[in-house]
Amino acid sequence: MDVRALVYSADLVEDLLFFVAEDTFAEYNWPNAAIRALCEAQGFSGKFGEVVSCVYLEDGSDKVRKVIVGGLGNSFELCLEKVRRACGKALKEAERAKVETLALLPWTQGQLNLCDVVRALTEVALLSNYRFDRYLVEKKEPNLKTLHICYESDQEVDVIRGLKVGQTLGQTTNLARTLVNEPANSMTPEQLATEACRAGETFGFEVEVLETPAIEELGMTAFLEVGKASSNTPRLIVMRHLGNPDQPEEILGLVGKGLTFDSGGLSIKPAQGMGAMKSDMAGSASVIGAMGAIARENLKVNVVAVVAACENLISGIGYRPGDIIGSMAGKSIQIESTDAEGRLTLADAVHYIVTKEKVGAVVDVATLTGAAVIALGSVTTGVITNDQSLYEKLQGASKQSGERVWQLPSFPEYREQNKTAYADLKNTGGREAGTITAGLFIEEFVEGKPWIHLDIAGTSFASKSSDYLTEGGTGIGVRLLYHFAESFV
Ligand code: BES
Ligand code: MN
Ligand code: ZN
Repeated sequence: MDVRALVYSADLVEDLLFFVAEDTFAEYNWPNAAIRALCEAQGFSGKFGEVVSCVYLEDGSDKVRKVIVGGLGNSFELCLEKVRRACGKALKEAERAKVETLALLPWTQGQLNLCDVVRALTEVALLSNYRFDRYLVEKKEPNLKTLHICYESDQEVDVIRGLKVGQTLGQTTNLARTLVNEPANSMTPEQLATEACRAGETFGFEVEVLETPAIEELGMTAFLEVGKASSNTPRLIVMRHLGNPDQPEEILGLVGKGLTFDSGGLSIKPAQGMGAMKSDMAGSASVIGAMGAIARENLKVNVVAVVAACENLISGIGYRPGDIIGSMAGKSIQIESTDAEGRLTLADAVHYIVTKEKVGAVVDVATLTGAAVIALGSVTTGVITNDQSLYEKLQGASKQSGERVWQLPSFPEYREQNKTAYADLKNTGGREAGTITAGLFIEEFVEGKPWIHLDIAGTSFASKSSDYLTEGGTGIGVRLLYHFAESFV
């Protein structure tokens, strides 16, 4: 979809979309009384979630215009995410009504910042138009091709800025969705590295890819054990955006889980639903997408991202339950389940980024535990952290992106569950508090650095479409990490 800014004029004849709040319905400056009457006649009152559409013949013209109006609910309860959802619902109606070019009047009342609103609307335009149709012979083209975001000349700076960032975030989130939606026979570790390189060229960040001998050299044995059974060999992908060369020592680290497929290994997963484990690299898709956005917007911050990409399969040379393996940090790990593989790859990846890339803080993003899906469903990303002020930054980013986060406790008692008599750690903490113990396992490898762990097992893949996302990869984390990085500028 093509989204552009357009100076509003009274003789505009395109099909129209605008939003009305419930409490300011009466004082809203409707384009004209006829449109208002047509909407009211259909019972529209501005409640959140309402969408009405009508056709309207302009005075003295033969042009029939379609007008779509979305309800926002009470303006004092309005937030960016409600704007996104209202816009998503309205765009569905536009699609149903076969609108091709739509003029959108952004919501400008109340306390929301216009630049933020335009950004959110642009994101939704791009996200709602996304289809993963690469493998279909017959592709279904959407009707809606062009969205004009209308503005008055004194709003130009905010609108142009919001539009630009919204386009970047829509595009990079859709990139992450495609990386997740691609099946594992196409999205191998090698291919994921190729995609990271391509994103680096498109958006302007540096990419370095290491193969097995170099990964061995680094001593990343926990990572290598996980990938050993697959003939699709592992890749360590390192991405760099050095946007603040004046303070080269200050670096933010991002780490994404990059299991291109997780069969569970010898601790094999049930057949039903195993195919969904092509999405076990969603964390890496988040960081690749976020790096794209950070680089495209040239944020004045140094960010390094790492993905330890591999595939968890079964063969005669794979690791087994009961094995005791090493790690880059030198800690020994007893394998209780070969299906608790993500934390092994992440242990080495976070240790690498802290010790070799010298980052000052680390965020890891991972489809880590089924327990996170049970606890929080597909609505909220689970968070474990050792630094409350870093978490406050994440909450600020979450308010901007609309991606919900919730902190889980990390009391020291939980650490006991990762202990064993025979090694420094074991790779599962049992069924109880599975999301917390998985997070705390990773914390053992961050050398005390400020750290946030995001468990996106529930939020990275949608089983059905919602207001502005289609079924499949959600691109969760791209916008969140972008705004998080922005808070370091
Ligand atoms: N990739 C899975 C977690 C997962 C489950 C992601 C459902 C998305 C949807 C992870 O590697 C895993 O298998 N975790 C195990 C850990 C257990 C063996 C301690 C789990 O959650 O069952
Ligand atoms: Mn697993
Ligand atoms: Zn996994």
